[in-house]
Amino acid sequence: MNKLWLRLALRMARAIVSIQFHSMSPSGKNNPVPLRVAGREDESVRVLISRERIRKRIKELARKIRADFQGEPLHLVGVLKGAVFFLADLARQMPGEVSFDFIAVSSYGDETHSSGQVRLTRDLDSSIEGKTVIVVEDILDTGMTMQYLLSIFQQRKPKHLRVAALLDKPERRLTAVQADYVGFRIPNEFVVGYGLDYAERYRNLLDVGVLTIGKARKKKSARRKHKKAANDDRASS
Ligand code: PRP
Repeated sequence: MNKLWLRLALRMARAIVSIQFHSMSPSGKNNPVPLRVAGREDESVRVLISRERIRKRIKELARKIRADFQGEPLHLVGVLKGAVFFLADLARQMPGEVSFDFIAVSSYGDETHSSGQVRLTRDLDSSIEGKTVIVVEDILDTGMTMQYLLSIFQQRKPKHLRVAALLDKPERRLTAVQADYVGFRIPNEFVVGYGLDYAERYRNLLDVGVLTIGKARKKKSARRKHKKAANDDRASS
């Protein structure tokens, strides 16, 4: 009898340890502890949108887009690098004929001011003339990038031109650009994960989270401003 109790107690202890471990896992579903990366102890990430919510929402978006263009081949254009996971998941949830291509841009500006000037650094591989094009972005922030992209894509005479953005931060918009398909409207927080980076880090997180550096959450800063700061760090080290 004593042995039975001992076994039961051991099993319960193991179960408790396993539950605690799971809940502390950096990218776990019910993660109460912000993720910290070794060597970056001053940075932490709190989950804002879980991978389950992302997966579910992308499925809904894919169905909605397909329903709007029934029977038509769809050409997805991903904006590097942030949109890679979103495009990959969206494409795989979309029934019917789908092709895709990628484009890359960079923007000018100093550390504190974005000039709003965007420059093409990698063009598409193929023409979009006559195609139904869905521009796929991870985030619409000021809207400068998308405004630039739409202006060049429109000149190339696609049959239809639409925008799908996983995240939309309307508070920061400086242009009239809107996405036709939005995954999540988010507050003005600096988010990373699921393709979004800080200094090229955190893109590989499965969830989208809010980045904290030191004690303060990152706020009100353009993504490109952080990118510039991170590049400067790298250049001076
Ligand atoms: C991010 C994001 C969008 C853009 C949105 O790209 O992927 O392309 O900023 O910002 P905007 O609406 O203010 O123009 P980023 O320049 O960080 O490059 P990345 O995708 O390589 O991370």
